[in-house]
Amino acid sequence: MSGVARLELDGTVYELPTYVGTEGERAIDISKLRDTTGYITLDDGYGNTGSCRSAVTFIDGDAGILRYRGIPIEELAGRSSFVETAWLVIFGTLPTVEQRDRFSTLLSDSAMIDEVMRKHFNAFPQSAPPMAILSAMINTLSAHDAGVTQIEDDADMERATAVLMSKVRTIAAASYKASIGEPLVYPRYDLKYAENFLHMMFSVPYRQFEATPEVTAALNLFLMLHADHEQNCSTSTVRMVGSSKANLFASCAAGVCALWGPLHGGANVAAVQMLQQINDSGMPVAEFVRKVKNKDEGVKLMGFGHRVYKNFDPRSKILKKSVDEVLAQLDKTDPLLDIALELEAAALEDDYFIERKLYPNVDFYSGILLRAIGIPLEMFTVMFAIGRMPGWIANWKEINDDEKSRIYRPRQIYVGPTGVQWQPRDER
Ligand code: CMC
Repeated sequence: MSGVARLELDGTVYELPTYVGTEGERAIDISKLRDTTGYITLDDGYGNTGSCRSAVTFIDGDAGILRYRGIPIEELAGRSSFVETAWLVIFGTLPTVEQRDRFSTLLSDSAMIDEVMRKHFNAFPQSAPPMAILSAMINTLSAHDAGVTQIEDDADMERATAVLMSKVRTIAAASYKASIGEPLVYPRYDLKYAENFLHMMFSVPYRQFEATPEVTAALNLFLMLHADHEQNCSTSTVRMVGSSKANLFASCAAGVCALWGPLHGGANVAAVQMLQQINDSGMPVAEFVRKVKNKDEGVKLMGFGHRVYKNFDPRSKILKKSVDEVLAQLDKTDPLLDIALELEAAALEDDYFIERKLYPNVDFYSGILLRAIGIPLEMFTVMFAIGRMPGWIANWKEINDDEKSRIYRPRQIYVGPTGVQWQPRDER
């Protein structure tokens, strides 16, 4: 506690403790508000509600700052790998050489999924969305290895983390293979995290896929930039489910479901579909912007706007630069990039977007990067889920480690009918 706020209600003044976080963010602690005053707070969409104290990720949305465990995203993007960043996010510090080697071995050892589990993929219709398969299969993991859900100490947590992070990649690739009617590909022990995923996605029994260093680096970057983003919809969901003491796998399966929506992780699909439609229809960018501003048929500029960022999302800046570099390295062009650049420029000088502080978010350029490295559109949100897994695990761990943590259980203001009586069926 660092101070007090005074609140006057019905003629009585109440004192509420205030807190300041390590980056100067301020909060009024209202946890005893209902007990002392009979009031609750009402905050649709939780825009002003701090649901927890967390030491994982810091965002300053006004300044466009994102840090994992205190390290700016720009520093990690230039130097770290996804696996190292995942360790940082989950366990709190950059891994030592020994920790890094041990974790890499655990990841390699955990890449296979149970042979029986492989058969589940045949039971889904070929048209099944990969996100539906992903969430079902993550939940199923704990049924095949019940021991992994018993987390008593750091070693158990490390093993569960490796199992989840490693197998999610195998499941994701298998769901894609199932959707295109190709046989599932076994992981390879000699390949690192990103390369192994690309191998399982694109190898076929008669031809091994060899990822180029540029493609592997681009995938590592994509995953790293998605590793955590504090209390977003899916992470809050993971914490919500985890707060009931549900196991790590059940909690993260719920995170996948929350991520699926087009306002969250599904925006990377929606953004590319939007660019594709503009491209295919030949609609001038100015005309599309006009439709967005008029809110015609609910048209939004997908990949723009953010609940927290009222400035550039630092991830979108990094991705924009990387898309250019990767396309040049691969000697490719993408007409959707030209449209995206034109759209961004138009939006950034338009009063509608300026007044509302709408800037490109992570999903504006990420889809173009994924296209450049050959990931099909229906897998985009799955890629986001693989990337976000460290953040979900870290947030679940925070809840699990906190002996004082309570079940998440918000209140509501009831606005429905009152005093209604049941009527017999023939009188209705
Ligand atoms: N295009 C056009 N108008 C927009 C957009 C947009 N992308 N985003 C917000 N607005 C308008 C909105 O209509 C509202 O206008 P008004 O004041 O006239 O009613 C105003 O800006 C404030 O928006 P809001 O919907 O109240 O903001 P929010 O914080 O509830 O929603 C958001 C944030 C990200 C859901 C929203 O900006 C959005 O729908 N963006 C498009 C979808 C998207 O790109 N989502 C990915 C988010 S980042 C990654 C992730 O979380 O997965």
